[in-house]
Amino acid sequence: MRIILIGFMGSGKTHWGKQVAHRLQLPFFDLDEEVVKAEGQSVTDIFATFGEEHFRLKEKETLERLVEEHESLVLSCGGGTPCFFNNIDYMKKVGIVVWLNTHVDVLLQRLLKEKAKRPLIKDIDDDGLRAYIIRKLNERRMYYEQADVVLDKEDAISMNDFIQTVLHA
Ligand code: S3P
Repeated sequence: MRIILIGFMGSGKTHWGKQVAHRLQLPFFDLDEEVVKAEGQSVTDIFATFGEEHFRLKEKETLERLVEEHESLVLSCGGGTPCFFNNIDYMKKVGIVVWLNTHVDVLLQRLLKEKAKRPLIKDIDDDGLRAYIIRKLNERRMYYEQADVVLDKEDAISMNDFIQTVLHA
């Protein structure tokens, strides 16, 4: 079983992914981390040196490699992963795609604290971050909405429900 988590930056994909993997006894991978390992550079440095397009190619290659290497996994993707190439179609073919649909206010609180490591938002003023999140989320919603499962709340109850759903699917 492959569980693929998607959602906006700060939606909790990595945090959730680790817990789900632990509960289901599956290996966990974070796509950004795997790209960083493969390239030997941070995401910010990859963007700065080679540009976003290069990052998106590496992200796609790494996604496909991880899937080919693992029949079962929990994979936490980057916020943009489902929105480039035909990644969302590919993900749905090879796994159960789960969208963490975290509220804008929660995203904002988290991202205000973690802007620096995210190249797309690091230079945006704190005052402008909310508007950016809303705009980008609206652009990306059409991809996120294609997920097989949508989780609207990051709480223990939805986690349990989710795990039961997956186990009985
Ligand atoms: C991005 C999200 C980041 C990372 C890169 C681009 C995006 O991952 O892949 O900075 O386009 O939303 P997180 O969602 O883990 O922050």
